[in-house]
Amino acid sequence: MFVKTGGVSKIAKKTVRDLDVAGKRVLVRVDFNVPLDKNGQVADDTRIRAAIPTINYLIEKNAKVILISHLGRPKGKVDEKYRMDPVAGRLSELLGLPVAKVDDCVGEAPQSAVERMQGGGVVLLENVRFHPEEEKNDEKFARRLAELADIFVNDAFGTAHRAHASTEGVAEFLPAVAGFLMENELAMLGKLLAEPERPFAAVMGGAKVSDKIAVISNLLNKVDVLIIGGGMSNTFLKAQGYDTGKSLLEADKVDLAKNLIGEAKSKGVNILLPVDVVVALAAAPDSEQKTVPVDRIPADWMALDIGPESAGHFAGALRTAKTVVWNGPMGVFEMEPFAKGTEALAHALAEIDATTVIGGGDSVAAVKKAGVVEKMTHISTGGGASLEFLEGKQLPGVVALLDK
Ligand code: 3PG
Repeated sequence: MFVKTGGVSKIAKKTVRDLDVAGKRVLVRVDFNVPLDKNGQVADDTRIRAAIPTINYLIEKNAKVILISHLGRPKGKVDEKYRMDPVAGRLSELLGLPVAKVDDCVGEAPQSAVERMQGGGVVLLENVRFHPEEEKNDEKFARRLAELADIFVNDAFGTAHRAHASTEGVAEFLPAVAGFLMENELAMLGKLLAEPERPFAAVMGGAKVSDKIAVISNLLNKVDVLIIGGGMSNTFLKAQGYDTGKSLLEADKVDLAKNLIGEAKSKGVNILLPVDVVVALAAAPDSEQKTVPVDRIPADWMALDIGPESAGHFAGALRTAKTVVWNGPMGVFEMEPFAKGTEALAHALAEIDATTVIGGGDSVAAVKKAGVVEKMTHISTGGGASLEFLEGKQLPGVVALLDK
């Protein structure tokens, strides 16, 4: 059953284990939307690796594994740089098996490829977003995808917030269940919202408050501690009456930040903001910089990272936490001089004895850069999807799956 209040208190969806997949044609929606390097090769294969348990399970069951994904945002047209070939190549290396790339995802090419498949074989269809019908969640297109298979498995948690033909539409026409990656994401993120071990702390960062309003509002009902850093903390500092100089500021969100601080206090949530910041004259690595307390940000300078005192303060608050969710960097971490706050936070999370859940591309990159991936309990493969989940929204790609 899927309990719809908030969408997340307990999600019980059928999984690939609940159906007899032996020898069947199984269409698996994966999220192989991976970064490519300048040569068009896969720059980070995390999402490909994350789908392998489901693919291997289906291979072992002698199913015919038909993989489908989007890559980039080709806007409904064929775009050579978003073809799936490099992904098929990497997947083939990881599986140690041939993976044929099929030149389209509907019509003659996939039909004949699937007809030729043996049990235990794997094919990867061409980028589903080459067809405008995908993002329109066109029913006829979804039906054409469904015709390729007997069973639909959604293992694309990262795309579950999109109501597209290959995530939601196709589930209308086939028995539709979750893969292992999807199951794991729903269990880990679901536990945060339903039954976190306490104290429960959320660390929110990133550039804009506007991106995180809904998630902060929802988490204020769940957490004991809320830590706010990164560019968005400037708007909160302004709400507390500090001058933030030339720092990134969402002036129209200052009142909202004030309300969120008030709400946190009235709910007994311990809210922590930076007490010092690294400021510079420009957002450039070679710009002059210094660390100042938040009540001394000079008029012509901008805050680009939390300072060491804030990092220590945040680490101290996390020391006793039993559950931590982190989304968004503490500063402009892609520039070395402004990466220390984010790195310190990654190390602080690595050292505590708690369930640690990392969501959002930037925080995941920071954890990787700090070399502490293995120390985290769960690293979500979803950016937008994990945020929407934490906002308490129902994800269309999940709702569409069969209830247990
Ligand atoms: C992601 O990378 O977050 C997912 O693959 C979804 O991609 P999208 O934002 O282009 O829909």
